[in-house]
Amino acid sequence: MADVAACRSEQAGAVSGVAGLGEAEACAAGLGGALAAGSDAGSAREGGPELAPAEYVEAFPQAAGIDMPGLDGRLPSRVASFARRSGRLPERGQRLWEEAHGAVVVPVRRGPGMTTVALDYRLDLDAVFGRGAPLLVEVGCGGGEALVAHAAAHPEINHLAFEVWRPGVVGLLRRVKETGVSNVRVVEADAAQALPVLLEPASVAELWTFFPDPWRKARHHKRRLVSAGFAATVASLLQDGGVWRLATDWESYAEQMGQVLAGARDVFETTAAPGERFAGRVLTRFEQKGIDAGRQIADFTAVRRAR
Ligand SMILES: C[S@@+](CC[C@H](N)C(=O)[O-])C[C@H]1O[C@@H](n2cnc3c(N)ncnc32)[C@H](O)[C@@H]1O
Repeated sequence: MADVAACRSEQAGAVSGVAGLGEAEACAAGLGGALAAGSDAGSAREGGPELAPAEYVEAFPQAAGIDMPGLDGRLPSRVASFARRSGRLPERGQRLWEEAHGAVVVPVRRGPGMTTVALDYRLDLDAVFGRGAPLLVEVGCGGGEALVAHAAAHPEINHLAFEVWRPGVVGLLRRVKETGVSNVRVVEADAAQALPVLLEPASVAELWTFFPDPWRKARHHKRRLVSAGFAATVASLLQDGGVWRLATDWESYAEQMGQVLAGARDVFETTAAPGERFAGRVLTRFEQKGIDAGRQIADFTAVRRAR
């Protein structure tokens, strides 16, 4: 496999009205190749999503039918786990992006904001993948090295990535092209907002959150993706017996993951302490960077209890 995309160790910045926070380390992704375009496979539906965990409702009250005077249909400010950066893709990456749009890149109807999806837009997964199959979702796939490797080893599984960083998406597209896998799709959107909108409850067999942005400083911890609210979203989406896999190379994030899972014991069966490394995860440059820096990798596995 070609060289992998390098991910930032911490991001900083602002989305949707959150004040700017300073330094950002950009990632570099390998680019190249081309893919054929396809068609839109989502659908609008009546009303809001059936799923509305408390934190989701707090952030997106329109989803629960709560009127927000003065917002004029805009989303209220929210704390996001990523910083949106602009910047042009190299020409080959841009070409790859454009040609994959509608095929590997799943088009979604946007909500107000570049990374949100319209609250009444549900994906038709059978149409998106051209078949029905168990669904594995990766949140924050970076350059897609783990997901594409898994997809190649498991052609019987549909793999759906969520990523907000376009060079990362393009890195995934390059890997899809290189390996020739046909069971990978990617949505460019904030997974925290988009997951419960796009996917049916109890529709996911496995969900990965590997090396989410660490947001090391205490004042930035609220930006971390793995929170009680996100756990509620994952619990809603996973089928009974479905698996949530997490990993981090930051001790304080491992503690937070452990606390989040301990707080969700009613819905997840899990080990309180980090367990063995997940053998199905290829070693990404991001994980390698943590190892090189002498950091301990912590893996967690949580199994959705029966409803
Ligand atoms: C540190 S990188 C890790 C990438 C990859 N999982 C790995 O292990 O190498 C974290 C990635 O998560 C993405 N990300 C952060 N918050 C996200 C969100 N709310 N929705 C989708 N992607 C997100 C970032 O853009 C970044 O590419």
